[in-house]
Amino acid sequence: MSGIWRHCRPTLKFSARSLGVTRIGKEGILNPHLFDLTGEVAIVTGGNSGIGKGIAAGLAGAGCSIVIASRNLEKSGAAAQELEQDFGVKTLCIQLDVKDPESIERMPDQVMGELGRIDILVNNAGMNVRKLPQDFSVDEWDRIIDTNLRSVFLCSQAVHPVMKETGGKIINIGSLTSIVGSGRTSPYAASKAGVLQLTRSLAVAWAPDNIQVNAILPGYISTPLTVQARRDFPGLDRHVLERTPAGRWGTPEDFAGPAVFLASKASDFVTGDFLVVDGGYTQGLFLIPVT
Ligand SMILES: NC(=O)c1ccc[n+]([C@@H]2O[C@H](COP(=O)([O-])OP(=O)(O)OC[C@H]3O[C@@H](n4cnc5c(N)ncnc54)[C@H](OP(=O)(O)O)[C@@H]3O)[C@@H](O)[C@H]2O)c1
Repeated sequence: MSGIWRHCRPTLKFSARSLGVTRIGKEGILNPHLFDLTGEVAIVTGGNSGIGKGIAAGLAGAGCSIVIASRNLEKSGAAAQELEQDFGVKTLCIQLDVKDPESIERMPDQVMGELGRIDILVNNAGMNVRKLPQDFSVDEWDRIIDTNLRSVFLCSQAVHPVMKETGGKIINIGSLTSIVGSGRTSPYAASKAGVLQLTRSLAVAWAPDNIQVNAILPGYISTPLTVQARRDFPGLDRHVLERTPAGRWGTPEDFAGPAVFLASKASDFVTGDFLVVDGGYTQGLFLIPVT
């Protein structure tokens, strides 16, 4: 050992006990509490469907109480009932339209009044319209940007006063179009690229408050949002299956693990970053067809 490493040596002597972890044979180490969210409260916007529902189930599985915040209370009630039955956690449904600043403003008080804390916010609610750029109206542009981007800013701003007292985790749902262009969904791509820059900016601003802000960028996921796309573009299904190294569409369940990681102590030193969940779609330029 030489140079700088000699000076580092004493600090490299970690033991399982010093890290507060349990040693499991020769396999490695595991802190049983690293991913435990028992006693915590998570708000999931759009938690009654698709990716949001998958994330809500993941967080509930880790012991967290879940607030489903969406427009359709009936759909939210059904999703909440499933969570209570499957995981025995507390749930709360609140009616939220993320396009409406007043609706967002009311959200923290409703959650604090019922559950007394807010530890995690998942900004997942979103929508899409598919057209060529020249065919979008101003109203469509505004609706997409307000739903997908302004909402992330306003919901995060709304929970900040609570989270700055206790620390917290914010997870923003972007898209592959946060990092690549999309000819038929240009306002959507602009909104999702904005989500990524907002994630980084909030992370930098709120790191001193012990609030970690990260993004998840889903690839092609089988949800109600993509049903219409499959109808509109008959070649899409084949393209996704051939182009995705994992050989399948993603499912809402694929988001449970990544969300628990970004919501838990396991990611306390990770902030302003993004996690792509796409079965390898963006990782290779050329794919050799698998027989
Ligand atoms: N599926 C994909 O392939 C894919 C890929 C990349 C990114 N994403 C992103 O993942 C997120 C979830 O999409 P998904 O595929 O799971 O879609 P989804 O199944 O259609 O779910 C969308 C959710 O957003 C809620 N929502 C929509 N507009 C809202 C509003 N104005 N206020 C409050 N809630 C609203 C809906 O609930 P209510 O109708 O009850 O309001 C619903 O729960 C979106 O941000 C989407 O852009 C999806």
